[in-house]
Amino acid sequence: MIIDPKEIPVPKMHSYLLGAVVPRPIALASTISAAGEVNLSPFSFFNCFSANPPIVVFSPARRGRDNTTKHTYENVKEVPEVVIHVVNYAMVEQASLASCEYPRGVNEFTKAGLTEVRSEKVRPPRVGESPVALECKVNQVIELGSGGAAGNLVICEVLLMHINDDVLDAQGRIDPYQLDAVARMGQDYYCRASGDAIFSVPKPNEKVGIGIDQLPAYLRKSKVFSANELARLANVEKIPDGNPMHVPSERTLMQARELLRAGRTDEAWKLLVG
Ligand SMILES: Cc1cc2nc3c(=O)[nH]c(=O)nc-3n(C[C@H](O)[C@H](O)[C@H](O)COP(=O)(O)O)c2cc1C
Repeated sequence: MIIDPKEIPVPKMHSYLLGAVVPRPIALASTISAAGEVNLSPFSFFNCFSANPPIVVFSPARRGRDNTTKHTYENVKEVPEVVIHVVNYAMVEQASLASCEYPRGVNEFTKAGLTEVRSEKVRPPRVGESPVALECKVNQVIELGSGGAAGNLVICEVLLMHINDDVLDAQGRIDPYQLDAVARMGQDYYCRASGDAIFSVPKPNEKVGIGIDQLPAYLRKSKVFSANELARLANVEKIPDGNPMHVPSERTLMQARELLRAGRTDEAWKLLVG
């Protein structure tokens, strides 16, 4: 299927984008109006774009239904401050409840049963239950269009980051298993970053992998390895020393593949080079 956005209705394009650009992290955004009304809503058009300065961006879009603007957008135009929270599995239902279209002035902290904690640098309160909260000032709002479903990029600079000690490992880094973050997929689907869904792909920045084209022909031509597995083998700086005449048997290739699948790349290479 090929889609030309100009030829399909906006809601259809919207749902293809939501289904394809996944998983999207969720920003639970706390804002405040000039009159002091607190608002809390989730946004999955969200990500981090810079570490220096520390910048995160989310997008409270114009409503597709009637082309009105969302309270979060209106609030940040009035008071350019926001606290952005990471949503974990323990609070995902509450974040979803906070997305209901309550009238302006209704505080979704109350509706969703979340705890208001005073922020240190900005006026909107933060969510006590969230494992990570980013107190931000809004540097810029970029309106991407004027029609229904047009995005509004809220460019936020992080002034203060709160991290719950419970999600830190012994080295003080965020442990993804403890964070237990959730992300948004298409339709009503979410996903949870836990258990087998978390895995690592070794790619030290300072090293350059040899590339699949530099693998010996017996590997490139072998039907035993998928291209993805060959990529793992080709992510070494240099083929380990071994017997240059050695051509492994089919059985050895299969054993090496098992080691590779278990993340034991060095041992797989040892077996292959003989
Ligand atoms: C997980 C989740 C992610 C959402 N992401 C977005 C988004 O990125 N942009 C958007 O405009 N609405 C998004 N929504 C819908 C808004 O949360 C919803 O329209 C909300 O009522 C807006 O609240 P407000 O008018 O108080 O700002 C999302 C809803 C959920 C449950």
